[in-house]
Amino acid sequence: MTTYSAQSFVAAIDQGTTSSRCIVFDHGGAIVSVSQKEHRQIFPRPGWVEHDAEEIWANVLDVVHGALQKASLTVHDLAAVGITNQRETTLVWDKTTGKPVHNAIVWQDTRTDQLVKELGEQNRFREKCGLPLATYFSGPKVRWLLDHIDGLRQRAEAGEVLFGTMDTWLIWKLTGRHVTDVTNASRTMLMNLETLDWDDELVDAIGVPRAMLPEIRSSAEVYGTATGTLEGVPVASALGDQQAALFGQTCYAPGEGKCTYGTGSFLLVNTGDKPVVSENGLLTTVGYKIGDQPAAYALEGAIAVTGALVQWFRDKMGLISSAAEIETLARTVEDNGGAYFVPAFSGLFAPHWRSDARGVIAGLTGYIDKGHIARAVLEATAWQTREVVDAMNADSGVELVALKVDGGMTANNLLMGFLSDVLDVPVVRPIVAETTCLGAAYAAGLAVGYWSDTESLRENWHKAAEWLPTMDAKARDKGYRKWKKAVERTVGWID
Ligand code: G3P
Repeated sequence: MTTYSAQSFVAAIDQGTTSSRCIVFDHGGAIVSVSQKEHRQIFPRPGWVEHDAEEIWANVLDVVHGALQKASLTVHDLAAVGITNQRETTLVWDKTTGKPVHNAIVWQDTRTDQLVKELGEQNRFREKCGLPLATYFSGPKVRWLLDHIDGLRQRAEAGEVLFGTMDTWLIWKLTGRHVTDVTNASRTMLMNLETLDWDDELVDAIGVPRAMLPEIRSSAEVYGTATGTLEGVPVASALGDQQAALFGQTCYAPGEGKCTYGTGSFLLVNTGDKPVVSENGLLTTVGYKIGDQPAAYALEGAIAVTGALVQWFRDKMGLISSAAEIETLARTVEDNGGAYFVPAFSGLFAPHWRSDARGVIAGLTGYIDKGHIARAVLEATAWQTREVVDAMNADSGVELVALKVDGGMTANNLLMGFLSDVLDVPVVRPIVAETTCLGAAYAAGLAVGYWSDTESLRENWHKAAEWLPTMDAKARDKGYRKWKKAVERTVGWID
């Protein structure tokens, strides 16, 4: 096995919903350098969201270059590179020219609304793939492309075009291999959770030709060696971003979990080596699979819109000029004044799974000012987390005792305090809050022997901040009742 000098590092590329990032880590799991670049959000129609995959690829090359340059490193200093990515976002490209046949259809996009209804009852495939039929997942998005682009189905059947989520696109661009990992594959509705392979019944029912599907591999192994900007570096991990955060938060034992606060928010709890089917609207998903070790599964509460609401408040309402300002604006008032904001912009995900829901602001009176709305925007993230924690508690039969958090929104003290209040448990954040990249780096480092085992990774986890509940039970219950009333008002907006 290769031995690594103390000067070697591992890089992770995080291809997220709003930006791409590259972070270089040292052996202690500390950040050495970061480079980040946003890409365009393309909204062709209400409910539709697309990304330009070529723009994303150019940004990825830029941020890799940027991170190496900031740390005065070259590719020779890297033991491996890992990939983590926004999940479910769907791309089809020409195998020969490498050109995408269409913009990527983003996970938030609801254009498959009608199609998922036609595919049948919501839980038709849940037993096999762990997911309800919903616009969120990739399989129906591929089917939409096949149905709407002339001649695409024939080309797919002939193996002339390839499907991939963003991990697959980046690995293909870096190494020329057409592969995905089990975590990303578990978000397509096409993979069988037991066999960890494409499932004939699912593939046929959703209508996606096998010839266009990538090979499913583990989350930590060398898929190939990069050419170009990362010339010679082993590409050694791929995990969906939420699973990468679970791994980076060192949630390696059943019952350990985390919630990542980004564009959306995603609470995942490790359930060990057997998939657990949810009875309360959670997703069953693959947590990670390290080389030829058994896969670890997870239950997930996926919330579509959290940070994206703050972004919308900034960009579309213009009431603040930076995301951080929302805390200042919210602190101009004592409370929400009775206003509740349910941001069902892409329907409602866990635990409701209502594609027909749309956002509402409820409880408005003449008293409400922009400070109250800013509070309602922040509180929406906490109440949505409360809903998925309740579902998690009901599924597992065990009450959550503390919540590990990470992601951009954890910088907001007002929100984190309120979150602890509405969950009535401590909320804790590690020193390295970039757990998504860290998880991808850990997996890549394990694959090439840069780190020896997961136990050694646990030693890198250190608490940086903790918020404790202070709200009395009566106020909490009253707030939650009102939130639920507001949620009821979101459904039935789409015919
Ligand atoms: O499932 C969608 C999720 O992977 C997106 O994560 O952090 O890019 O919003 P993020």
